[in-house]
Amino acid sequence: MKKLTIAIDGFSSCGKSTLAKDLAKELNYIFVDSGAMYRGIAFFALQNKLIIDGVIHTDLLINRLDEINLEFVYNKEKFESDLLLNGVNISTEIRKPDVAAIVSKIAVLKEVRSKLVSTQQKLGEFGGIIMDGRDIGTVVFPKADIKLFVTADPKIRAERRFKELLLKDLNTSLVDITANLEERDLIDTTRKISPLVKAEDAIELDNSNLTRESQLQFVLDLIKERFNTL
Ligand code: CDP
Repeated sequence: MKKLTIAIDGFSSCGKSTLAKDLAKELNYIFVDSGAMYRGIAFFALQNKLIIDGVIHTDLLINRLDEINLEFVYNKEKFESDLLLNGVNISTEIRKPDVAAIVSKIAVLKEVRSKLVSTQQKLGEFGGIIMDGRDIGTVVFPKADIKLFVTADPKIRAERRFKELLLKDLNTSLVDITANLEERDLIDTTRKISPLVKAEDAIELDNSNLTRESQLQFVLDLIKERFNTL
Protein backbone atom coordinates (compact mmCIF):
# COMPACT_ATOMS: atom_id res chain seq x y z
CA MET A 1 0.00 0.00 0.00
CA LYS A 2 1.15 3.56 -0.80
CA LYS A 3 2.54 5.30 2.29
CA LEU A 4 0.34 8.34 2.80
CA THR A 5 1.19 11.81 4.01
CA ILE A 6 -1.39 13.10 6.46
CA ALA A 7 -1.46 16.77 7.48
CA ILE A 8 -3.39 17.89 10.55
CA ASP A 9 -3.77 21.60 11.23
CA GLY A 10 -5.89 23.57 13.63
CA PHE A 11 -6.15 25.92 16.59
CA SER A 12 -4.20 25.56 19.81
CA SER A 13 -5.06 22.63 21.99
CA CYS A 14 -7.81 21.06 19.94
CA GLY A 15 -6.46 17.54 20.13
CA LYS A 16 -4.40 17.45 16.93
CA SER A 17 -1.48 15.64 18.51
CA THR A 18 -3.71 13.09 20.21
CA LEU A 19 -5.39 12.29 16.91
CA ALA A 20 -2.05 12.22 15.08
CA LYS A 21 -0.53 9.85 17.66
CA ASP A 22 -3.52 7.50 17.52
CA LEU A 23 -3.40 7.44 13.72
CA ALA A 24 0.36 6.84 13.69
CA LYS A 25 -0.09 3.86 16.01
CA GLU A 26 -2.93 2.44 13.95
CA LEU A 27 -1.15 2.85 10.59
CA ASN A 28 2.39 2.27 11.86
CA TYR A 29 3.45 5.66 10.52
CA ILE A 30 5.84 8.28 11.87
CA PHE A 31 4.23 11.03 13.97
CA VAL A 32 5.77 14.50 14.07
CA ASP A 33 4.53 17.23 16.39
CA SER A 34 5.74 20.33 14.52
CA GLY A 35 4.61 22.61 17.37
CA ALA A 36 7.14 20.90 19.65
CA MET A 37 9.88 22.14 17.31
CA TYR A 38 8.70 25.77 17.57
CA ARG A 39 8.51 25.28 21.33
CA GLY A 40 12.10 23.93 21.22
CA ILE A 41 13.33 27.15 19.64
CA ALA A 42 11.38 29.21 22.18
CA PHE A 43 13.01 27.18 24.95
CA PHE A 44 16.46 27.82 23.45
CA ALA A 45 15.74 31.56 23.43
CA LEU A 46 14.72 31.49 27.10
CA GLN A 47 17.65 29.31 28.12
CA ASN A 48 20.13 31.60 26.40
CA LYS A 49 18.57 34.78 27.77
CA LEU A 50 17.59 36.07 24.36
CA ILE A 51 14.34 37.32 25.90
CA ILE A 52 14.85 40.19 28.28
CA ASP A 53 11.90 41.70 30.18
CA GLY A 54 9.54 39.95 27.79
CA VAL A 55 11.25 41.40 24.70
CA ILE A 56 12.56 38.85 22.21
CA HIS A 57 15.93 39.85 20.81
CA THR A 58 15.16 38.53 17.37
CA ASP A 59 18.49 39.48 15.76
CA LEU A 60 20.40 37.57 18.42
CA LEU A 61 18.11 34.57 18.05
CA ILE A 62 18.33 34.55 14.26
CA ASN A 63 22.13 34.71 14.47
CA ARG A 64 22.16 31.65 16.69
CA LEU A 65 19.68 29.45 14.81
CA ASP A 66 22.50 27.35 13.35
CA GLU A 67 23.44 26.28 16.88
CA ILE A 68 20.05 24.65 17.32
CA ASN A 69 19.72 20.97 16.53
CA LEU A 70 16.31 19.46 17.24
CA GLU A 71 15.75 15.75 17.04
CA PHE A 72 12.89 13.38 17.92
CA VAL A 73 13.90 10.14 19.63
CA TYR A 74 11.35 7.42 20.32
CA ASN A 75 10.90 6.66 24.02
CA LYS A 76 9.78 3.02 24.39
CA GLU A 77 8.51 3.49 27.93
CA LYS A 78 6.28 6.44 27.11
CA PHE A 79 5.27 5.12 23.66
CA GLU A 80 6.05 8.54 22.21
CA SER A 81 9.00 10.58 21.01
CA ASP A 82 11.09 12.85 23.17
CA LEU A 83 12.38 16.10 21.74
CA LEU A 84 16.13 16.59 22.12
CA LEU A 85 17.76 20.02 21.85
CA ASN A 86 21.44 19.53 21.08
CA GLY A 87 21.23 16.06 22.64
CA VAL A 88 19.34 17.10 25.80
CA ASN A 89 15.77 15.92 26.42
CA ILE A 90 13.54 19.01 26.72
CA SER A 91 10.13 17.27 26.40
CA THR A 92 8.92 18.51 29.80
CA GLU A 93 10.38 22.01 29.58
CA ILE A 94 8.66 22.84 26.29
CA ARG A 95 5.19 22.31 27.83
CA LYS A 96 5.76 24.90 30.58
CA PRO A 97 3.83 28.20 30.64
CA ASP A 98 6.96 30.33 30.04
CA VAL A 99 7.47 28.59 26.69
CA ALA A 100 3.74 28.74 25.82
CA ALA A 101 3.82 32.49 26.52
CA ILE A 102 6.41 33.27 23.83
CA VAL A 103 6.31 30.47 21.28
CA SER A 104 3.86 32.14 18.89
CA LYS A 105 5.90 35.34 18.90
CA ILE A 106 8.91 33.32 17.82
CA ALA A 107 6.92 31.34 15.25
CA VAL A 108 6.23 34.55 13.27
CA LEU A 109 9.92 34.84 12.34
CA LYS A 110 10.66 33.96 8.72
CA GLU A 111 14.12 32.52 9.54
CA VAL A 112 12.70 30.27 12.25
CA ARG A 113 9.96 29.03 9.95
CA SER A 114 12.24 28.30 7.02
CA LYS A 115 14.66 26.32 9.23
CA LEU A 116 11.84 24.20 10.68
CA VAL A 117 9.85 23.77 7.47
CA SER A 118 12.87 22.33 5.66
CA THR A 119 13.55 19.89 8.53
CA GLN A 120 9.87 18.89 8.53
CA GLN A 121 9.86 18.33 4.76
CA LYS A 122 12.93 16.09 5.06
CA LEU A 123 11.23 14.03 7.78
CA GLY A 124 8.32 13.46 5.41
CA GLU A 125 10.17 12.82 2.16
CA PHE A 126 9.27 9.10 2.04
CA GLY A 127 5.64 9.46 3.14
CA GLY A 128 4.15 7.29 5.89
CA ILE A 129 3.96 10.34 8.12
CA ILE A 130 1.39 12.22 10.14
CA MET A 131 2.38 15.75 11.07
CA ASP A 132 0.32 18.22 13.05
CA GLY A 133 0.69 21.99 13.31
CA ARG A 134 -0.56 25.20 11.77
CA ASP A 135 0.84 25.23 8.22
CA ILE A 136 1.26 21.55 7.41
CA GLY A 137 -1.44 21.24 4.74
CA THR A 138 -0.75 24.70 3.33
CA VAL A 139 3.06 25.03 3.37
CA VAL A 140 4.94 21.96 4.61
CA PHE A 141 3.04 19.30 2.64
CA PRO A 142 0.75 21.12 0.19
CA LYS A 143 0.33 17.84 -1.70
CA ALA A 144 -0.58 15.77 1.37
CA ASP A 145 -2.90 12.83 0.64
CA ILE A 146 -5.21 13.72 3.53
CA LYS A 147 -5.59 17.15 5.09
CA LEU A 148 -7.58 17.73 8.22
CA PHE A 149 -8.47 21.02 9.85
CA VAL A 150 -9.40 20.35 13.46
CA THR A 151 -11.52 22.70 15.52
CA ALA A 152 -13.17 22.54 18.94
CA ASP A 153 -15.09 24.86 21.22
CA PRO A 154 -12.59 27.25 22.93
CA LYS A 155 -13.91 26.45 26.42
CA ILE A 156 -13.50 22.72 25.84
CA ARG A 157 -10.00 23.27 24.44
CA ALA A 158 -8.93 25.23 27.54
CA GLU A 159 -10.35 22.57 29.87
CA ARG A 160 -8.57 19.79 27.99
CA ARG A 161 -5.23 21.64 28.19
CA PHE A 162 -5.78 22.34 31.89
CA LYS A 163 -6.28 18.63 32.60
CA GLU A 164 -3.32 17.66 30.42
CA LEU A 165 -0.96 20.03 32.26
CA LEU A 166 -2.25 18.90 35.66
CA LEU A 167 -1.41 15.32 34.73
CA LYS A 168 2.12 16.46 33.93
CA ASP A 169 2.33 18.30 37.27
CA LEU A 170 2.62 21.60 35.42
CA ASN A 171 0.44 23.79 37.59
CA THR A 172 -1.33 26.70 36.01
CA SER A 173 -4.85 28.14 36.07
CA LEU A 174 -7.74 27.75 33.67
CA VAL A 175 -7.88 31.55 33.34
CA ASP A 176 -4.21 31.74 32.29
CA ILE A 177 -4.59 28.86 29.86
CA THR A 178 -7.66 30.43 28.26
CA ALA A 179 -5.81 33.73 27.82
CA ASN A 180 -2.76 31.99 26.34
CA LEU A 181 -4.83 29.97 23.85
CA GLU A 182 -6.69 33.12 22.75
CA GLU A 183 -3.48 35.06 22.32
CA ARG A 184 -1.74 32.30 20.37
CA ASP A 185 -4.75 31.71 18.10
CA LEU A 186 -4.82 35.41 17.30
CA ILE A 187 -1.10 35.61 16.52
CA ASP A 188 -1.18 32.34 14.56
CA THR A 189 -4.14 33.33 12.39
CA THR A 190 -3.03 36.89 11.67
CA ARG A 191 0.72 36.57 11.09
CA LYS A 192 2.07 37.46 7.64
CA ILE A 193 4.01 34.28 6.95
CA SER A 194 2.18 30.96 6.85
CA PRO A 195 -0.82 31.96 8.95
CA LEU A 196 -3.10 29.28 10.28
CA VAL A 197 -5.82 28.88 7.63
CA LYS A 198 -7.82 25.91 6.47
CA ALA A 199 -6.33 24.57 3.24
CA GLU A 200 -8.92 24.60 0.45
CA ASP A 201 -8.85 20.83 0.21
CA ALA A 202 -8.83 20.15 3.97
CA ILE A 203 -11.66 18.36 5.72
CA GLU A 204 -12.92 20.16 8.78
CA LEU A 205 -13.34 18.10 11.92
CA ASP A 206 -14.99 19.67 14.97
CA ASN A 207 -14.15 17.29 17.78
CA SER A 208 -15.85 19.22 20.63
CA ASN A 209 -18.21 16.34 21.27
CA LEU A 210 -16.23 13.44 19.87
CA THR A 211 -14.40 10.84 21.89
CA ARG A 212 -10.80 10.01 21.13
CA GLU A 213 -11.94 6.74 19.55
CA SER A 214 -14.62 8.33 17.39
CA GLN A 215 -12.32 11.00 15.96
CA LEU A 216 -9.80 8.28 15.10
CA GLN A 217 -12.55 6.22 13.43
CA PHE A 218 -13.67 9.26 11.44
CA VAL A 219 -10.22 9.56 9.86
CA LEU A 220 -9.78 5.82 9.34
CA ASP A 221 -13.12 5.75 7.51
CA LEU A 222 -11.99 8.68 5.38
CA ILE A 223 -8.78 6.89 4.41
CA LYS A 224 -10.75 3.73 3.59
CA GLU A 225 -13.19 5.68 1.45
CA ARG A 226 -10.53 7.66 -0.44
CA PHE A 227 -7.89 5.03 -0.89
CA ASN A 228 -9.98 1.90 -0.79
CA THR A 229 -7.65 0.41 1.79
CA LEU A 230 -7.39 -0.55 5.53
O1 CDP B 1 -0.20 22.08 21.57
P1 CDP B 1 -0.76 23.37 21.04
O2 CDP B 1 -1.84 23.14 20.03
O3 CDP B 1 -1.15 24.30 22.10
O4 CDP B 1 0.43 24.14 20.29
P2 CDP B 1 1.65 23.52 19.52
O5 CDP B 1 1.19 22.64 18.41
O6 CDP B 1 2.59 22.95 20.50
O7 CDP B 1 2.31 24.82 18.83
C1 CDP B 1 2.87 25.86 19.61
C2 CDP B 1 2.93 27.11 18.76
O8 CDP B 1 3.89 26.91 17.71
C3 CDP B 1 1.67 27.53 18.03
O9 CDP B 1 0.81 28.32 18.81
C4 CDP B 1 2.22 28.30 16.84
O10 CDP B 1 2.52 29.62 17.19
C5 CDP B 1 3.52 27.59 16.53
N1 CDP B 1 3.41 26.64 15.42
C6 CDP B 1 3.50 27.12 14.13
O11 CDP B 1 3.60 28.33 13.93
N2 CDP B 1 3.49 26.28 13.07
C7 CDP B 1 3.37 24.96 13.25
N3 CDP B 1 3.40 24.15 12.19
C8 CDP B 1 3.24 24.44 14.55
C9 CDP B 1 3.24 25.30 15.62
